[in-house]
Amino acid sequence: MIKKIIYILITLILLTGLALSSLWYFGYITVFRSVKPREVVMDMDYEQKLNPQAENTFFKDSLSIRLPADTIYSRFARKYKYESVDFEKAEKEFSNPIKMSDFVLKRGKNTFEAYCFYCHGLKGKGDGPIITEVPKRPNQEPFPGPPDLTRKETKAKSDARLYHILSSGQNLMFPVADKLSEEDRWILVLYIRHLQGL
Ligand code: HEC
Repeated sequence: MIKKIIYILITLILLTGLALSSLWYFGYITVFRSVKPREVVMDMDYEQKLNPQAENTFFKDSLSIRLPADTIYSRFARKYKYESVDFEKAEKEFSNPIKMSDFVLKRGKNTFEAYCFYCHGLKGKGDGPIITEVPKRPNQEPFPGPPDLTRKETKAKSDARLYHILSSGQNLMFPVADKLSEEDRWILVLYIRHLQGL
């Protein structure tokens, strides 16, 4: 009986040790560790929209909207290796590794309607609320309209070129390489093809 209890106790101690060391390894316990604390921010969920009435006098750069602190980074951040102008290199190197399927269609729709719809519109026609609704509000500048993603010029661009535009940005469109994984960006390309009826 006593032997059994001792065995159980030893197992419990070993399991607790394993659990604690895993927590320590993955950075949840920071004792004896020099990693900076991490803050997980769900992109867009906590964004503030500030309309300052005057220049900010508290910060030297006089801006009210602050950039995230150095210790904040996206969970999916992966650096994209090309600049916007390097589209030829990207076109040579990349090809879409993902095939269309029911899952891909649903995933693409979900991502497009979270990240792209507010400019490009649900069907990619360039009529999202930022373009159509925001300018109706007082003191709001209209945002220069994004192109209709179903037009023939966009249809003619290769998958790699669209992937490159998403990853590195193009003029006013900001890149999403720091927000969406490589797979999700390829899936978005397939979703654009779906919107184009291809
Ligand atoms: C803030 C508004 C905005 C958001 C959000 C946005 N875009 Fe754009 N998008 C634009 C604008 C503006 C352009 C035109 C850029 C230019 O002048 O070259 C553009 C261009 C594009 C193009 C190139 C079309 C072409 O024919 O050259 C693609 C592809 C595209 N967007 C896809 C997306 C996808 C997919 C998302 C979601 C991840 C997205 N965009 C999010 C504004 C936006």
